[in-house]
Amino acid sequence: MFPKKPPMGFNTWNTFAENISDEMIRATADAMVEKGLLAAGYEYLVIDDCWSERQRDKITDKIIPDAKKFPNGMKAVSDYVHSKGLKFGMYSCAGVRTCADYPGSFGHEYLDAETFAEYGADFLKYDYCYKPKDADGPLLYRRMSMALRSCGRDIMLSACNWGCDDVHKWIRSTGAGMYRSTGDINDSFVSFRDIFLSQLDNYVYSAPGCFNDIDMLTVGMRNRGNVAASGCTDEEYRTEFALWCMFSAPLMLGCDVRNIDDVTLRLVTNPLMLRVNQDEEARPPFFALREHNDLCNVYVKVMSNNELAVLFTNFTEDDGRSMWMPLENIGIPVTAGKGLHLTDVYTGEDLGVHKEYLRFSVPAHGTRMFIAKIEG
Ligand code: GAL
Repeated sequence: MFPKKPPMGFNTWNTFAENISDEMIRATADAMVEKGLLAAGYEYLVIDDCWSERQRDKITDKIIPDAKKFPNGMKAVSDYVHSKGLKFGMYSCAGVRTCADYPGSFGHEYLDAETFAEYGADFLKYDYCYKPKDADGPLLYRRMSMALRSCGRDIMLSACNWGCDDVHKWIRSTGAGMYRSTGDINDSFVSFRDIFLSQLDNYVYSAPGCFNDIDMLTVGMRNRGNVAASGCTDEEYRTEFALWCMFSAPLMLGCDVRNIDDVTLRLVTNPLMLRVNQDEEARPPFFALREHNDLCNVYVKVMSNNELAVLFTNFTEDDGRSMWMPLENIGIPVTAGKGLHLTDVYTGEDLGVHKEYLRFSVPAHGTRMFIAKIEG
C-alpha cells in the first residue's frame, strides 16, 4: 500500500487504551460517518493495543480477540466498519509482547499477517516493545512488511518504533506507509510542541509513500482519557492541528469522536487546513524565519497549483507577539514587484495582497496560517 497523501483516521489509544469493545468501535464508526469525518477524509478506524486475549490460542497459535471485549470476533467488527465505508486498522508489535503486555508478533509474523487478512484489516500499526535484545529492528519491520505483502490483502504497515535507530533513514525501504518518529504524546501544549520540534530536521524524509507520523492527535481530548495531562486551550489545539497539517503528518484523531465538540469538529474538518495537509506534492516546508530557538518561526510550504501555505508559530508566553518576515526570505525580492495574496485559513477571510513583508501579531502558544498566491 503506497499512501500518496498523509493517512487520516481515528485510533483508540489516546482516549480508550484497554477500554475498547465491539460496541465502542461500532459507535465510533457511526460517529465518523454521521459527523462528516469520513467525508472530510478520516477513513481509517484503528484499534490499538489491548484487543486480544493475553495468550495465543494453544492449538492454532493464533492471536485471538478478547472474548469479552469482542464477543462477535474481529471479522464482524471489521465488516461493520467496512459497511460504513471506512477502512479497518489493527495493532501488533515487533517484540514478543505488546507494550501493554499482550502477545506480540515476533516469530509469528506470517501467521499474524494472515490472521489480520482474515479479519479484513487494511492497516497495521506495528509497535516496538519487548523486542529481543539481539534482534535487528530494521529486519523486524522488513519481516512484517514482507508478511503483509504476501498475505493476500492490501494492508498498510504503520511502523511505531518511536524514532529509534534513526528510523527515518531506513523505514521507507521496508515498504511501510508511515512511521512514528517520537515517543508518546500526551494532552498538553509542551508535549506536542516538543514532539513537533524534535522532528524539524527530519520532515524532509516524509513524502508520498512513507510519512513521518508525529503521533495521534490530542486535539479535542479536553483532558479526558488515557493520555490526559494538563489539557490544552482551543488556541493550543489549533496550533497542534496546524503543525500536523503544515508538515504533512498523518492525521489520526485521538479524541472520543462519539462526543466530539463543535469547536473541535470545525477545526479538524477545516477544508483549507486539510488542503494544506493533503496537498498532493506533500513537500516539506522551509524556514522563512527562525527565531528564539525555533519558538517563533515562519514556515512556508510550496503546494500544487502555485499555492503556498504560510505558518507563523509563537510558542512563547508573549501574547500578541509581533512577527515580521520579509518576502525576500521566501525568494520574492522587492525588485520582483510581486506580493502574496493571502487567505486566512482559520476564518476564510481574503486578506488581499501583501508586498515586501508579512507582519502579524501572533497569540501566545498560537499560530497564524495562510494560503497564498504570488501576485502583482
Ligand atoms: C506505545 C505506542 C502508543 C500505543 C501504546 C500501546 O508504544 O507508542 O502509541 O500504541 O504503545 O501500548
